[in-house]
Amino acid sequence: MESQLKQLQIEALEKIEKAADLKVLNEIRIAYLGKKGPITEVLRGMGKLSAEERPKMGALGNDVRSAITEKLAEKQKVLEEAAVAKQLAAETIDVTLPGRPIRVGNHHPLTKTVEEIEDLFIGMGYTVAEGPEVEQDYYNFEALNLPKDHPARDMQDSFYITEEMLLRTQTSPVQVRTMEKYNGKGPVKIICPGKVYRRDHDDATHSHQFMQIEGLAVAENITMADLKGTLEVFAKKMFGENREIRLRPSFFPFTEPSVEMDISCMICEGEGCNVCKQTGWIEILGAGMVHPNVLKMSGFDPEKYTGFAFGMGAERIAMLKYGVDDIRHFYTNDVRFLKQFGLHE
Ligand code: DAH
Repeated sequence: MESQLKQLQIEALEKIEKAADLKVLNEIRIAYLGKKGPITEVLRGMGKLSAEERPKMGALGNDVRSAITEKLAEKQKVLEEAAVAKQLAAETIDVTLPGRPIRVGNHHPLTKTVEEIEDLFIGMGYTVAEGPEVEQDYYNFEALNLPKDHPARDMQDSFYITEEMLLRTQTSPVQVRTMEKYNGKGPVKIICPGKVYRRDHDDATHSHQFMQIEGLAVAENITMADLKGTLEVFAKKMFGENREIRLRPSFFPFTEPSVEMDISCMICEGEGCNVCKQTGWIEILGAGMVHPNVLKMSGFDPEKYTGFAFGMGAERIAMLKYGVDDIRHFYTNDVRFLKQFGLHE
């Protein structure tokens, strides 16, 4: 019996040593230490032994069991460690691999232009105002000194929705809406960017929908010199310190006198080129002193208050600033075009 037990121990230890994984190890555990295993089987024969031999064999049986148990635990540890090492090796991250680039978007060139102009005027004490794109005829025309049969309405072909409602053709109605809110009390200093709509045929320089930026300053003692000084600061900040401005007489029903502002051409520095059509000057915006009728209709006393206003097309400014030759680029959303305008320049 003794040799049987010892033989079983040798056998079991050998198998444990060779076990390749935890599953095999568990099978060995069950096979040798289980109730139906060979050790139990051998020890069952103890009844036939002498009283002297019995405790010895019992002790030997226990020793064999503990030797196998110990070896199993040892091997289990080795196999577990190997499994962890294998997993770690499989999951190793190669930190030297180049990363995948994250595609970052950027602001639309029109947004950039509008924000730049807003910032510039905010720096001069203006606030940003907004108004509705679906506008009443009253605000879009009448309150701006353009009565129903006024011929100057033809300057802006309109999309009417009803007799009294239309898509605004200009941002000028926001002047009136803002002044109404001020209840006849100045000063008012606002800048108003927004979409406008006209029945135009789209081409390289026209779009049925585009953006305007309106400005309005109303206070006591505002003069044309204030208008000129403000526009000059704007021109230099937007297009470079070397820019000169020139005001030409013009006509808008809501201003008197009315002017159009040109800046000296920044492409040819006044020499004459294609952009300035050989004149050395580029037309930028319309402006003027707010017409007394407009002040009156908006609740301001024209005897006490004066003001200036101006309006420009955001696309035109952006085209000149970035050298874009077709207004349609702003709306066709070609990523190759849009990508050229970095996030913050
Ligand atoms: N609203 C005019 C237009 O769409 C532009 C304009 C001209 C706005 C003179 C003004 C202004 O405020 O004073 O053509």
